[in-house]
Amino acid sequence: MKFVLLVCLGNICRSPLAHGIFQHLVNQNGLDWHIDSAGTGDWHIGKLPDPRSVSEAKRNGIDITYQRARQFQVDDFNNFDHIFVMDEDNYLNVSDLARNQTDLDKVQLIIPGQEVPDPYFGGDEGFQQVFSMLHDRISVLLNQL
Ligand code: 4NP
Repeated sequence: MKFVLLVCLGNICRSPLAHGIFQHLVNQNGLDWHIDSAGTGDWHIGKLPDPRSVSEAKRNGIDITYQRARQFQVDDFNNFDHIFVMDEDNYLNVSDLARNQTDLDKVQLIIPGQEVPDPYFGGDEGFQQVFSMLHDRISVLLNQL
């Protein structure tokens, strides 16, 4: 059993896609892992993923409408083995809350040395790019964790 948390800023665009892709691949591979996502910000708590993330996921055969946004909390360091963030801002916001080195060691950029760009203020192609980056990376992570 592994516990994996995906984190972005709003928990409505990027991390819901990462969450949905991870869950989809975990299911396909018959793995008994717990996958969740959260945002560092509190603006969208309780909301469904952004409609553009919902439709990009759906276009790829993945339903993410069961997800509701929540905010990252310190207790997540107790509940998860791996905390994957989308960009350097997320990394700073989450690592600021780490209580010790064990907490800090759980936090990493989902793509080493690269940021998953925030698609919120752009067009649909940004969501397609994010989906593709995340799908490629999570397919690899599934065999590495
Ligand atoms: P996310 O995108 O971090 O990928 O969920 C964003 C969603 C909302 C906002 C920023 C980024 N916002 O400023 O409300």
